[in-house]
Amino acid sequence: MADYSLEQVPAGWNDAATFYDAHVASFTAKFARDALDLVGVSPGMRVLDVAAGSGALALAAAQRGAEVLATDFAPGMVKLLQDKAAAAGHTQLRAAVMDGQHLDLDDASFDRAFSVLGLMFFPDRKKGFAELARVLVPGGRAAVVAWSRPDKMKVLGAFQNALWRALPDLALPPRPPPWLPLSEPEAFKAEMREAGFAHVRAHTVSHTLVFDEPTTAFDWLTGATPALNVLVHRLSPEDRAAFLEVFVEDVVAAQGQGPFGFEAEAHIAIGRK
Ligand SMILES: C[S@@+](CC[C@H](N)C(=O)[O-])C[C@H]1O[C@@H](n2cnc3c(N)ncnc32)[C@H](O)[C@@H]1O
Repeated sequence: MADYSLEQVPAGWNDAATFYDAHVASFTAKFARDALDLVGVSPGMRVLDVAAGSGALALAAAQRGAEVLATDFAPGMVKLLQDKAAAAGHTQLRAAVMDGQHLDLDDASFDRAFSVLGLMFFPDRKKGFAELARVLVPGGRAAVVAWSRPDKMKVLGAFQNALWRALPDLALPPRPPPWLPLSEPEAFKAEMREAGFAHVRAHTVSHTLVFDEPTTAFDWLTGATPALNVLVHRLSPEDRAAFLEVFVEDVVAAQGQGPFGFEAEAHIAIGRK
């Protein structure tokens, strides 16, 4: 059973940081671009990125000329982000270690605030939304991206189905991922409104992950998800091999020859303070 509490502590993400940056951030950057386009970011705006990871959104916002502060509670992610900002010459992009539930930032100090696939993991999401609202100027806008239902995240669906088929004793009962409440747009919007946002809307977007081999898809998902990484590495070598074999079998049965595509759907809730 996946223990998603690993997604709620810095250690899980520190360990994942290098793989995440090399293989995952270019994909999450697509959702980051959607979020930036939806609320609009122009040169000189003060932009906050919460749970920024290695900078998928922060770097794109800096590219658009914004003054960016990127925050994340995993020092490993923040270090990578700082290195990337320096390499790109983005002097107007700063990064700091901070828990998104307790931002060490002044009230009303940003024009735009974002969290891409980050706030959705917070144990206290209410505080996460409230902190976004607190640091925005009146009239400022926020966008929060969260995965849709697990069956709309096709690579996760394939992983879960293969786990149930290969190792049924281990797979049950499944523990829902922490973002599940946000996977329904109405509930997502309600949480954002409760934090004080007005004109709240939700947009559904999807992008497709493409891999040459099913095994690469399996490695991508486990590398991107600390809880699943630990789950797989705690299996005996025999169980791990059996699980992977079923995963590959399922993907090939569903898709035939490569390349192999997996749609990933997310909701983006936007609101105005
Ligand atoms: C799936 S990654 C998303 C990273 C980035 N926003 C992106 O789109 O690529 C989740 C990130 O949330 C961060 N995170 C999780 N809980 C957090 C918290 N309470 N405060 C700050 N960051 C948090 C993790 O360290 C990790 O970098």
